[in-house]
Amino acid sequence: MEVLEAVSEISSFSFDAEYLDIGSDRYLATGELLTDEDISVMRSKDAVYFGAIGDPRVAPGVLEQGVLLRMRAVFDQYINLRPVTSWFPLVPLKRQVDFDIHFLRENTEDFYMGAGGHFGPSHGSNPHVHVERGMYTLDLDLSAESSNGDDFAFEVGLLSRRGVERFADYAFRYASDRGDTKVTLVDKANVCTHIYGMQREIFQEKSAEYGIDLEFMFVDAMAMAMIVRPETFGTVAVPNLFGDILTDLGAQLQGGLGMGGSGNINPEGVSMFEPIHGSAPDIAGQGKANPIAAVLAAQMLLENQGFPEEGALLHDAVRASLDNGSTTPDLGGNMTTEQVGRTIADMVLSTRR
Ligand code: IPM
Ligand code: MN
Repeated sequence: MEVLEAVSEISSFSFDAEYLDIGSDRYLATGELLTDEDISVMRSKDAVYFGAIGDPRVAPGVLEQGVLLRMRAVFDQYINLRPVTSWFPLVPLKRQVDFDIHFLRENTEDFYMGAGGHFGPSHGSNPHVHVERGMYTLDLDLSAESSNGDDFAFEVGLLSRRGVERFADYAFRYASDRGDTKVTLVDKANVCTHIYGMQREIFQEKSAEYGIDLEFMFVDAMAMAMIVRPETFGTVAVPNLFGDILTDLGAQLQGGLGMGGSGNINPEGVSMFEPIHGSAPDIAGQGKANPIAAVLAAQMLLENQGFPEEGALLHDAVRASLDNGSTTPDLGGNMTTEQVGRTIADMVLSTRR
């Protein structure tokens, strides 16, 4: 927030912020995750700037599903933009080459819909899965008898034609805006043939429509290729679950989890910007966390809100602070979170004309 304030002091960007106390402390005190009030406040804003979530005192999945995934679903933020850009030579990289991969992770469907359940003799009645998204509802009914005596748990990976179409439209437009000549689509179409087969067909149609090449990569091969030849990728479209995994790999490739910003984008609605990392409870309160990922999320927020120059300014300030050696321990420095944040904010202020 300090960095954003610095930007607003020296540019035409200005903002009012309302703070919402969403997270584990409030949850443990009141049982509230994301209230209707929170949602209506966020709905009234241009954008949401989100910290990081996770707490070992809360069972895994509660905060993730109740806050983060809920927010993404409520606001239908169907694109998760996650750039993986080298900061070489300022940040030591796993591969000493220049690269700039922009991951577009589909953010509403696939295995992330919570569409699943249990069935079999211990679970009684017929399992029923109900999915509600802004653009559709879906009801799946299964027969308990079909389990033949064993108990099952299942999680359905779903893609809708409309969901894939809007994803593909966004990806090809994004590639064309960036001047990329191809879109890479990551999947596992050799195994999950139904969902990813349909996805391939739709991307192929869109590739022809936009006149931009399409390249298919299986996710396992992509994990390898990201290490071996990251410089060969530009715009990469990836379904939700694989996108979660590959962008953590990407964050390490660019120098660490503390370097990854993320935008949960609804091009027609309220978008949310956050670092890709969680709350790092093991180092909480020690001033060791690298604030750059959060600052890069603010950069994406500025770009998304129509302030590309202010975004670039932030990017340059991060670069300058790295060049200065003003870094937290994860990047080999000995500065605190606050000091790095302050340095970046000062760099921004020093560009005042
Ligand atoms: C991320 C996180 C979330 C995800 C979790 C916390 C639900 O890992 O933003 O990548 O899987 O999307
Ligand atoms: Mn993740």
